[in-house]
Amino acid sequence: MGLVSAKAMLDDARKGHYAVGHFNLNNMEGVRAFLLAAQENHAPIILGVSRGPAKYMGGYRTISDMVRDFMNALNITVPVALHVDHGTYEEALDAIENGFSSVMFDGSGYPIDENIEKTRHVVELAHAKGISVEAEVGAIGGVEDGVIAMGECADPAECARIAALGVDFLAAGIGNIHGKYPSNWRGLNFDVLAAIREQVGDLPLVLHGGSGIPSEMVRKAIDLGICKVNVNTECQIAFTEGIKEYFIQKKDQEERGYIPQTVLEPGIEAMKRVCIEKMTLFGSIGKA
Ligand code: 13P
Repeated sequence: MGLVSAKAMLDDARKGHYAVGHFNLNNMEGVRAFLLAAQENHAPIILGVSRGPAKYMGGYRTISDMVRDFMNALNITVPVALHVDHGTYEEALDAIENGFSSVMFDGSGYPIDENIEKTRHVVELAHAKGISVEAEVGAIGGVEDGVIAMGECADPAECARIAALGVDFLAAGIGNIHGKYPSNWRGLNFDVLAAIREQVGDLPLVLHGGSGIPSEMVRKAIDLGICKVNVNTECQIAFTEGIKEYFIQKKDQEERGYIPQTVLEPGIEAMKRVCIEKMTLFGSIGKA
């Protein structure tokens, strides 16, 4: 089927009261793990690429070619969107020109009027090519690619202004943060989420920082209109732990145990397991 825009899959999720999983790519092993997890479980999936991994994997063109070729090689037939995660304005335009099927322009660091102007332009360019657009209002806390943002709750009135630009889905801070949640985290702010939902009609909403949020909170967020949940840290940890176990069991010292594909395989399997657990929680299994 090739890469698709994320719009239809998220509109379906909104109607069906589930969420589609967005899983961040950090390397080629992630491509393999997530595509197989989605295909084997008949689930739509969004593969997200943030700045550091984009550079590491050779830029947007290399990545989009690699994902397409992998999809052909693995006979992937479920809907897959390849999405820029927290793109700058320039990165969003770069990805639009280089084979991505979905982009996030994160203008949350700009004053709202500037965020609106830049988002408007990204929407025009992306939609002309059938590419979906995620916008952001209210910075998401935590550290991502070395960028530290304060955990904020978005202003529902600002969300309404961004929604009116025709974006396809919207990330709005509701107390969520990227990375590990601190022990004194206050949880998701459902009042803000409900207020945002009131302002933006049927627009699908996105929950970033999907690692480590208690399952009941994730389910409640989905009930209140979250249609896309972004997960990275838990998959990264699973990958590393899977490979660590390989060495703990001294498998590297077995016959040909030094072969890189063999060493990385438990990491792929561990990422795949987390991906399937999350898709089960989000309700997207069997939806493709
Ligand atoms: P986590 O790393 O906390 O799962 O967040 C991922 C994310 O929101 C990517 O945009």
